[in-house]
Amino acid sequence: MRAIAEAPSKAIVTGEHFVVHGAWALAAALPMLVRVEAESAPTPSVVSDRVAGGSRGILPILKTVEAMAHELSFDPGVRVKVSSEVPEGAGLGSSAATLVAVVSAVSRLRGFKLTPQEVSRFAMVGEREVHGRPSGVDAEICARGGVLLFRPGSPPREVPLDGTRSLMVAFSGSRRSTRVQVENVAKVRKKSMGAFDLLVAEASERSLEAADTLSKGDLRGLGRLLSASQLALSRIGVSTRSLEGLIAAALSLGAYGAKLTGGGGGGSIIAVAARGKEKSIVSGLRGRGYEAFVAEVPVKGARSWLER
Ligand code: MEV
Repeated sequence: MRAIAEAPSKAIVTGEHFVVHGAWALAAALPMLVRVEAESAPTPSVVSDRVAGGSRGILPILKTVEAMAHELSFDPGVRVKVSSEVPEGAGLGSSAATLVAVVSAVSRLRGFKLTPQEVSRFAMVGEREVHGRPSGVDAEICARGGVLLFRPGSPPREVPLDGTRSLMVAFSGSRRSTRVQVENVAKVRKKSMGAFDLLVAEASERSLEAADTLSKGDLRGLGRLLSASQLALSRIGVSTRSLEGLIAAALSLGAYGAKLTGGGGGGSIIAVAARGKEKSIVSGLRGRGYEAFVAEVPVKGARSWLER
């Protein structure tokens, strides 16, 4: 008997970094998946097509399984096999999607049906190993799916959409560590003598407004909020010249707005455009050498099942 789980990747639409300091963030699950198979074995082990950082990437998975086994009182002897469509270090939630899929598969194998809230709580054990001080938004969106407003300490709010919406995603080509970016922002905050708190409050307001525009399908309004978010992110030092170049390319091809997504310092951007315009923007970005795609949201959260 083995258990299989799949978890979606994610994009932070607005509010990354500021969410670590208490702001609302708006996040959307993306259709690229991480798949995990779990089966009983004499000792805990992890096999992966590519877990970030080799043994550094495996440790958070083992610690997560250990914490689950301890709290739920089951045998930690599980062999976990990870295969992923999500690029690592690209700001698209590779580690959170992996850990959420691991928790979903291992709990299913041991006969537990966890709620998304419980799945994300266990996934946070590994997320803390990977990121140091994560807000929890990545694990929450990968577990729940859909589009969510999230801030630490408040119940997440599902954002209803009356149909699907398209987000464009493009990878700058440079991989980076979210942990380092989060640590750098904490230093910026320390030096800012209160100015940072104003940016947190503004970011929080923008996320609430962005949820509203996305929900109504006002993509022009959302684009304006993405560009305002990008300005705030560049003020706290997480944008780069290559990200700015990619954003400028998306705007020159006709996007309403664009910004980096996730940790920054490299990684990916998201952009929005009028319905029907996305394909030409994505092919324009590809023509300039970037990996780019259109993602339809909402996407379902993590799911798991048993196979003989
Ligand atoms: C990473 O996807 C989002 C950050 O805000 C970190 C976090 O919230 O844990 C940069």
